[in-house]
Amino acid sequence: MSSAHVDQVAAVFDRWADAGRAEGMERGHGPTARPAFDRLQVGLGSRYLDVGCGNGYTVRWALARGAQAIGIDASPRMIERARAQTEGEATYAVARFPEHDLDLLAEGSLDAVFSMEVFYYLPDVDAAVAEVARLLAPGGHFACIVDFYAENEASHGWPDDLGVSMHLLSEAQWARSFETAGLAVVEQTRLREATPEDPAWKREQGSLLTLGRRP
Ligand SMILES: C[S@@+](CC[C@H](N)C(=O)[O-])C[C@H]1O[C@@H](n2cnc3c(N)ncnc32)[C@H](O)[C@@H]1O
Repeated sequence: MSSAHVDQVAAVFDRWADAGRAEGMERGHGPTARPAFDRLQVGLGSRYLDVGCGNGYTVRWALARGAQAIGIDASPRMIERARAQTEGEATYAVARFPEHDLDLLAEGSLDAVFSMEVFYYLPDVDAAVAEVARLLAPGGHFACIVDFYAENEASHGWPDDLGVSMHLLSEAQWARSFETAGLAVVEQTRLREATPEDPAWKREQGSLLTLGRRP
């Protein structure tokens, strides 16, 4: 996948932001994101990054815990939404992961990295997980959630629905990507935070969380 692919993805999410769908994602993803975020044990002074932060809802959760919080997203309109809705000292940047040129993202500079429904859009999943591993300090954690994965057959049509290509990985492939990057997989689970209005896959398959730790 090329930089043209990232242009295409960013354009889709610019349109979603303008249509109010960033807040729709906060409502839809938030109940699943929360237990994954809680596993990161973000606290006072933690250095926190959300990759593909959308409207910044988890950045605000991290701020509320007293963390130094950063949110990056390839969509300029998403970052505008995030800035407009955040009071306090968060750092937001328009950036394309993993090919960012942000000085603030230095090797070993983070305690916790979170990402919800983003990593399969990235041009090179293994390179992106390796970049997270580089950014984490020893003992730091990465929580990566995806709804588009091989075992969730209901998701397989999403690339056609959105008109963008996506990487379809299995649970085992996500775990292998973490391990290849030098992250220990401390937990891999399905989060099933579904309401009666949600589609059946949310209850049956759920969202795939892979939680890694830099040794
Ligand atoms: C499905 S949305 C999820 C947003 C947010 N995490 C949430 O839960 O609401 C995917 C987000 O990933 C961002 N994204 C996609 N590719 C990216 C890349 N290469 N670098 C940074 N952000 C990216 C998109 O712009 C979009 O905001």
